[in-house]
Amino acid sequence: MEMKAPIVLALDTPDLETALGWIKATQGVVSVYKLGLEFYLTFGRDGVKRVLDHTDSDIFLDLKLHDIPHTVSSAALALSSLHPKYLTVHASGGRAMITAAVEAVPTTFVTGVTILTSLSEKDVQEVGFKENAAVSAVKLATLAVEAGARAIVCSPLEIIDIRTALGNDVTIITPGVRPSNGAPADDQVRTLTPQQAIERGANFVVIGRPITGEWVNGAGAMRERAVEIAEQLR
Ligand code: C5P
Repeated sequence: MEMKAPIVLALDTPDLETALGWIKATQGVVSVYKLGLEFYLTFGRDGVKRVLDHTDSDIFLDLKLHDIPHTVSSAALALSSLHPKYLTVHASGGRAMITAAVEAVPTTFVTGVTILTSLSEKDVQEVGFKENAAVSAVKLATLAVEAGARAIVCSPLEIIDIRTALGNDVTIITPGVRPSNGAPADDQVRTLTPQQAIERGANFVVIGRPITGEWVNGAGAMRERAVEIAEQLR
């Protein structure tokens, strides 16, 4: 039997009709659809509305806002009529900025992005963090939640530390997972399987190419991939 799994499907495509096709193929299996910066800058609010017309699942706007509090507040307010369930901000934007976003869109889960997993330890030092990525991520997650964020995006390797520090009220969302179903790793390194991420305490896993990638042939196969992963998460 199919039911929605804790999967956030990344609609990473420059083609709106393709995105709508992916939604159709995975409807009822995926809990949340994630629209990133590329999608928003290409299709804007109208694109988001088209997506909303095609699904009753939640929308995750992954715009990673990072600016002065006033600007972030205005930007979040501009998005409020789209009613995204999740909206990302960089936790490193600071307490006042995060709170400004939370106050602008009180019904949205403002979601703090901790340390980008694309940064190496050397990069983390270079941009000025005193501590390593894992310790810095817990500090940023703590700051974000204290400032009102209700969700956190982090590497699967940081789930346990963040869950231990912040308890069960915060929603933990993790990309960087790869199912053991033959999907290519692509550019993801140091991955866990979706099942391992959920076992470690993530509420949702973000998945893109293992479901939507070119290696998956057609809508039927795409649904099969999604259902296969969903079944491992039950
Ligand atoms: O295709 P794949 O499963 O790698 O897609 C993962 C999604 O999660 C992409 O939208 C990517 O931008 C996003 N993401 C990530 N790693 C992060 C943050 C976001 O892969 N650290």
